Amino acid sequence: MKILSIESSCDETSIAITEERRVLSNIVSTQIARHRVFGGVVPEIASRCHTEAISQVCEEALSQAGLTYKEIDAVAVTFAPGLIGALLVGVNFAKGLALSLGVPLIPVHHLRSHIAANYIEHKDLQPPFLCLTVSGGNSILTEVSDYTKFKVLGNTQDDAAGECFDKTARALGLAYPGGVELDKIATTADFKRYPLPYPRLENSEFNFSFSGLKTAVINQIHNASQKGQEIDVPVLAATVRARVCDMLIDNTMRAAQKYSYKTLALAGGVSANSELRLRMEEECKKRNIKLYYPPLKYCGDNAAMVGVQAYYEYKSGNIADISLNAAATMPINYR
Ligand code: KG4
Repeated sequence: MKILSIESSCDETSIAITEERRVLSNIVSTQIARHRVFGGVVPEIASRCHTEAISQVCEEALSQAGLTYKEIDAVAVTFAPGLIGALLVGVNFAKGLALSLGVPLIPVHHLRSHIAANYIEHKDLQPPFLCLTVSGGNSILTEVSDYTKFKVLGNTQDDAAGECFDKTARALGLAYPGGVELDKIATTADFKRYPLPYPRLENSEFNFSFSGLKTAVINQIHNASQKGQEIDVPVLAATVRARVCDMLIDNTMRAAQKYSYKTLALAGGVSANSELRLRMEEECKKRNIKLYYPPLKYCGDNAAMVGVQAYYEYKSGNIADISLNAAATMPINYR
């Protein structure tokens, strides 16, 4: 079954053609350069850029796969969560395409597809497993009981880990998207020089909170600048990175222990973080847990992961009709 899938939830316009877990083509057109001058994604510009790029990206995806429209068996699309105007571009394009080709339309939840990015190159990975999905908009710890069955163990109560990285990076003068740059220039953490809080939430075993940490870093930078002191950017970057990793790893390892998971996956843009991968590897080795994470090209937003998840959604009977709408928020276990 050849699925043409569309991703437009944030600032990448991507279209892929997949067959079960196999990627026949995956085109990603990024808008980073358009948003960089503003230091973050401007939703209105994102929607316009998707509209400009989507037809060309679709042609390229078909051409890379060596297929014609007639050979497509289904159309899949990210319908939630994400920037509403950006999602609407992909959803409407998908509806028009499915209708004109006379093929099923498969709605895909963005976080489910990030998890599915792991299936592309890890052919042996199958549920049940525990998954930490960390991106620019989400930080969520879930039990993946089956390909389309999820139980949320922990979620962020405020900002996502990626948001914390991006905003502290911006305050440190690094270019958007800050998380990537911060990871590149970070050296060695120094908590004595830059004491950073470890926000703990009462009555929530596995939830996360990153906004207190973000504010603490921004305050340290402002205080130093008011006193005319220079910030050691690589050291502060490493200290923030270490603290974010402490919080993510601590919750994940406690959940793995409590629910006896021996298989763990990482997903989402922040799963590209070098320290997170390294330290997770070490912690998993100590506990005899098998760790999976996607290759770097599938960590960020892309349509290949949408197509792979769409295959399982289709098998479970999740097919939309022409009334499909986009939604800015939607729990991962919505159905
Ligand atoms: O999954 P993604 O591409 O988009 C969302 O669905 O949000 O994630 C983007 C996020 C951004 O916050 C970006 O700074 C972060 O992932 N990111 C990283 C790294 N690479 C990307 N954060 C930390 N370290 C990295 N190496």
